[in-house]
Amino acid sequence: MRDIAITLTVNGIVRRATVPGRRLLSDCLRHDLGLTGTHVGCEHGVCGCCTVLLDGQPVRSCLMFAATADGHEVTTVEGLAEPDGTLSPVQRAFAECHGLQCGFCTPGFLCTVTALLRDNPAPGEEEVVEGISGNLCRCTGYQNIVRAVHRAAEILAEER
Ligand code: FES
Ligand code: FES
Repeated sequence: MRDIAITLTVNGIVRRATVPGRRLLSDCLRHDLGLTGTHVGCEHGVCGCCTVLLDGQPVRSCLMFAATADGHEVTTVEGLAEPDGTLSPVQRAFAECHGLQCGFCTPGFLCTVTALLRDNPAPGEEEVVEGISGNLCRCTGYQNIVRAVHRAAEILAEER
């Protein structure tokens, strides 16, 4: 099979790559574009570690071919902070509330929660639990992650 030339806008920057048709978006981001912030855990759509935003919507990048993302906008964890490095409200809340331990799952959570709070700026407890239910964490027991989501909502409201 011939390689395919694709163009993605990743974190606001136009990026080009030539990839085999079966190249996963997660592998393209990590290996072709050097964006290793997107982590890969299960590689079959269960753990949510590889979650990125595709045109603003959370997707599991291990379940998508890079070629399918051709022409679309991708936001990875590297694109969540401000250009000057200031952490996003969601990133600050995770740090403040100790919403991570080893950090392996964290990029996926940060992308998921960023979209969650954009769509629902003041989620209730059940909405938070439901919203992060597609992301697995083996370390934290989730309590501090839930706390971080509520704290991020507070910070976003304060800064609005
Ligand atoms: S690596 Fe994609 S869902 Fe687990
Ligand atoms: S912090 Fe280790 S898997 Fe979530």
